Amino acid sequence: MSDFVVREATLADRDTILGELSDNIYNGFDYIPCCYQRWLHDDEHTMLCVEERNTNTIVGFEVIGLYDGGRTAVYHALRVHPAYRGQGVAKLLGRALQERTRRDFPSVTHIRSCVQDKNPVALGMHYKQGYKPVSTTAFRYAEILKPVPRSVFKPDQLGVKRVSAQEVWGLLSRMPESKRLELIPGNALLVDWIPRDACIEGLTLCCSVYSYAEFDPLRRLFLHSLCYNAFGCNHVLLSYDMGLRRGLPPREDESARDYRMPPAIADLQTELSGYIDCSADTIGCNMALLQKPVE
Ligand SMILES: CC(C)(COP(=O)(O)OP(=O)(O)OC[C@H]1O[C@@H](n2cnc3c(N)ncnc32)[C@H](O)[C@@H]1OP(=O)(O)O)[C@@H](O)C(=O)NCCC(=O)NCCS
Repeated sequence: MSDFVVREATLADRDTILGELSDNIYNGFDYIPCCYQRWLHDDEHTMLCVEERNTNTIVGFEVIGLYDGGRTAVYHALRVHPAYRGQGVAKLLGRALQERTRRDFPSVTHIRSCVQDKNPVALGMHYKQGYKPVSTTAFRYAEILKPVPRSVFKPDQLGVKRVSAQEVWGLLSRMPESKRLELIPGNALLVDWIPRDACIEGLTLCCSVYSYAEFDPLRRLFLHSLCYNAFGCNHVLLSYDMGLRRGLPPREDESARDYRMPPAIADLQTELSGYIDCSADTIGCNMALLQKPVE
């Protein structure tokens, strides 16, 4: 591994990182082009890259994002140049990100990462690094074709309740922690790709514009959301907790991958047809939320 060196990414690295290194990432729905410049200059993100020592070629990239008032580090956007995979670059980045987190962000208590469940290499690697699965959320990406007028959104007709953060927090805050963790695995709410703590700040973000939830205090909090201009890109992200599928009829082949949308999401997508293009990706993907304490 002495052939590779980890360093902070700079503005000059942008085109290289967004070039071949990022080919086909997230089926063309990569959010890094929309965030790179912003994240370079804010205090919440640290972008690291791996460079081959002899050639100065950038071969890997990953980001540390700080959330929940600095308690949570989310490791984002990992990618390794196709020609350099299987040589330990991602492992090197994983170690470097953790060292950085320990050194520069002592307030962080846990690390989270989201991995598509159809990405066995990335999943296996995360398990080996000590991450544990917390929950799975289904995502569907779409390109925005034209701005969606607010009048299109009619949450009352979607069969779900628009909940306020205060309402949910009012219930959660009175519960013992063990009960809360039963309702919200890992105490993490995955909305717009960012797994946030289920505290009042996280809930406020989750329940803000276009987020809907079903809250069953005896079972779980089921969130689904539509994030418009996700990460500042020309994309929307429809996401829903897999638990929302519980009302759907049983499938013939239970072992096949389950891409079914709960009715509220299917209705939302229908309402938005003409405004967004759901054809490209997108069966979408199921995103596993993984978590581990800082070691
Ligand atoms: C996933 C990805 C980042 C792995 O990068 P990498 O540099 O090739 O990974 P490493 O060589 O550091 O290997 C890390 C672990 O992954 C596993 N792994 C790597 N390549 C593998 C392969 N082809 N098949 C099976 N397992 C593999 C191994 O378990 C390895 O650990 P080990 O050496 O202790 O056995 C890379 O394949 C990639 O960029 N893929 C496209 C983007 C992506 O999926 N990003 C992840 C988003 S969460």
